[in-house]
Amino acid sequence: MPNSVNSIVLKLFTTKESLKQHLLQLKASNKTIGFVPTMGALHQGHISLIELAKQQNDVTVCSIFVNPSQFNDPKDLEKYPRTIEADTELLEQVKADILFYPGVSEIYDDNEQWHLDIGETEHLLEGEFRPGHYQGVTQVVYKLFNIVKPDTAYFGQKDYQQFLIISKMVDMLHMPVKLIMCPIKREPDGLAMSSRNIHLTADDRKHALILSKTLNWVKDNFDSHNIPALKKEAGLMISAEPGVELDYFEIANGDDLHQADKNAKTIVALVAAKVGKTRLIDNVVLK
Ligand code: PAJ
Repeated sequence: MPNSVNSIVLKLFTTKESLKQHLLQLKASNKTIGFVPTMGALHQGHISLIELAKQQNDVTVCSIFVNPSQFNDPKDLEKYPRTIEADTELLEQVKADILFYPGVSEIYDDNEQWHLDIGETEHLLEGEFRPGHYQGVTQVVYKLFNIVKPDTAYFGQKDYQQFLIISKMVDMLHMPVKLIMCPIKREPDGLAMSSRNIHLTADDRKHALILSKTLNWVKDNFDSHNIPALKKEAGLMISAEPGVELDYFEIANGDDLHQADKNAKTIVALVAAKVGKTRLIDNVVLK
C-alpha cells in the first residue's frame, strides 16, 4: 500500500464494518454523506463527481471496487486498469474524505445469487451486448448503498442507461438515497473520458473521435432531420471510420430507452462501438 494512503486527509477503509462504524459517528453528528462509487482508474470524469459531492455534502466517500459480477467477459475483467496509487493521489488532491477499497471477499460470499427484475430497460442497448451486466451493477450498488447509506450518490451521464437502472432500483426498493446525474467530462477534442481510454493505441485514439463527432452532428441536425434519417446518417458516419466496429447507435426515449419519436419528453442519442480492441460508449441529450 502506498504511503499516501495513510495520509490524514484521505481516510482509507478496506472493511465494511470499519467504514460503517466510522460513518455512524459522522451521521450521529448530523453530517451529510455524499457517495461516488467507481471502479478506479480515476480520471477527471470521476473527479468531477467527487467535486460536486464535496460541494453538496459534509463528507465525501469514494469507493474503488472492480466489480467482477458486472463483467460478462472474464478477459475484460482481467484487463480492467487498476491504478490504486495514482487514484489515491488524485483523491487526496481533490480532498475526498474517505476511500472505501474492499477486496472481493469483503463484498461477496461464495456462490451468491442475485436477480432483480428491473424491467425491459435492462435488456436494451448495453443490456443486449453485455447480458447480465446490469444485474451485476445493481447487485454491487445495492450492497454499496447499504454499507455507506449515503444521503446523495453521484453518477455520470456517461453511463446513461446505468443511471436509469439504478434510479429504477432505488425507486422499486424505496432506498433512502437521492441520485444525481453529472455531465460527461470530455477531452479537449471531444472524446468522452473513460478508464478504458488507456487501452487505445495512437491510431485508435484518432478513430475514436468519430463517436463524439457523430453525436454532435446528430445534435446539430436534430431539428432539421427526422429520426430515421439521423440514425441512418450516424450509422454511415461511424461505419466509414477505419478500425471502428459499431455495436449500436440509437435515438431513444430518455426515460426508458425505447426508440424515440420526436414528441418524447427527453431524447438521447447513444452509441457503443469497438475501437480497435476497446469497447467505448458515449451519448448526448438531444432534447
Ligand atoms: P466507473 O466506470 O468507474 O464509473 C464511475 C462513475 O463515473 C459512473 O457514475 C460513471 O458514469 C462516471 N463517469 C465515467 N466517465 C465519466 C465521464 N467522462 N464524465 C462524467 N462521469 C463519468 O460506472 C461504474 O464505474 C460502475 O458500474 C459502478 C457504478 C461503480 C458499479 O460497479
